[in-house]
Amino acid sequence: MAAVNAPARKIKVGILGATGAVGQRFIQLLAGHPWFEVAALTASDRSVGKAYGEAAKWIIRGGIPAGIAGMHLVPTEPGAIDGEIRLLFSAIPGGTAGGVESELADAGFAVCSNASAHRMDEDVPLLIPDVNPEHTALIAGQKRKRLALGKKAGYIVTNPNCTSTHLVCALKPLHDAFGLRAVNVVTMQALSGAGYPGVASMDILDNVVPYIGGEEEKIEIEPRKLLGKVKADGIEYADLLVSAQANRVAVRNGHLEAVSVKLRDEASLEDVAEAFRSYRGEPQRLGLPTAPEPAIILHTEADRPQPRLDRLAGKGMATSVGRLRPDPLFDYKFIVLGHNTIRGAAGGALLNAELLYAQGLL
Ligand SMILES: NC(=O)c1ccc[n+]([C@@H]2O[C@H](COP(=O)([O-])OP(=O)(O)OC[C@H]3O[C@@H](n4cnc5c(N)ncnc54)[C@H](OP(=O)(O)O)[C@@H]3O)[C@@H](O)[C@H]2O)c1
Repeated sequence: MAAVNAPARKIKVGILGATGAVGQRFIQLLAGHPWFEVAALTASDRSVGKAYGEAAKWIIRGGIPAGIAGMHLVPTEPGAIDGEIRLLFSAIPGGTAGGVESELADAGFAVCSNASAHRMDEDVPLLIPDVNPEHTALIAGQKRKRLALGKKAGYIVTNPNCTSTHLVCALKPLHDAFGLRAVNVVTMQALSGAGYPGVASMDILDNVVPYIGGEEEKIEIEPRKLLGKVKADGIEYADLLVSAQANRVAVRNGHLEAVSVKLRDEASLEDVAEAFRSYRGEPQRLGLPTAPEPAIILHTEADRPQPRLDRLAGKGMATSVGRLRPDPLFDYKFIVLGHNTIRGAAGGALLNAELLYAQGLL
């Protein structure tokens, strides 16, 4: 399919939770975006009414993009958001997101969310455009239900947990080519995954914390929805076992994952390597502005990928794979690395929104 035409006028968007770690990434990635322009920023009551530059403790290299520091933060509620805006990016905490995002969708907004609150809802796509672009078919059902209840036809689309995102980007070519029976993953997750200020320095310096609350449960279920099939009444989850152990390590950005897979069909090491190398998804076919090319980078060096060297591959949107080798317990094992606040959070939601536009859903 040919590249998608840009909209005649840029689409105005809002960012919910704009002062946090993920909110800041949205601001950075949307600066100069060819299709979208930031027109509203929201945060908690603590920050509402303040200028963004005063309320946010900016933590991304390069400073706050032009035009943002003077914008005033508005409440995260429908009446407070500029009437011309139809797309909202959500980076608010999971506990708050459930009610707030539903209320905004009921008011007619398209909400692209990072939060976990709605990820497993039957009628909400858990979306990675490289993996399951057809899952946007669920949106029609959400709109129908809202209209039947006398609400407006907004909707919610979610992106997965930052660790599931890169894991499933790497699993997708194997699932398509050989089928997956079982996956074991041990993660080494960056500090920025816990938001800002996140984990106390006294807890993580000279240390590894072998527990991240709620993380293993998400990594064990989200891949099954992502790799599932669209049916009339929702998604039929992939018949796949996933076992996860999550660890927090003293790295600023970039989640590393040690993965072992058991395949349904026989495949040689070269077959598996070629499946990674040749994979092209819908974002590459559509030429979406934020799509990395290639989406998966297969390293052959003995000691790559590494967070500090490889997390910005494809401007933080690519998934790096390396150390591919046979596994005596499973069939193959390899390392996966990806940027957690770019592709794993804000960049993932932005790519979702680009897919929605390309599919005529905005
Ligand atoms: N960090 C990651 O790598 C990552 C990856 C994937 C998904 N996520 C998800 O993305 C979301 C944001 O994570 P984060 O790391 O950016 O968190 P964070 O740094 O703690 O930022 C939270 C943001 O939400 C705002 N907020 C807090 N309570 C609110 C309320 N009641 N109403 C409206 N806004 C409120 C905060 O505003 P104030 O500044 O005013 O407090 C801040 O802007 C979470 O749901 C998280 O699970 C994070």
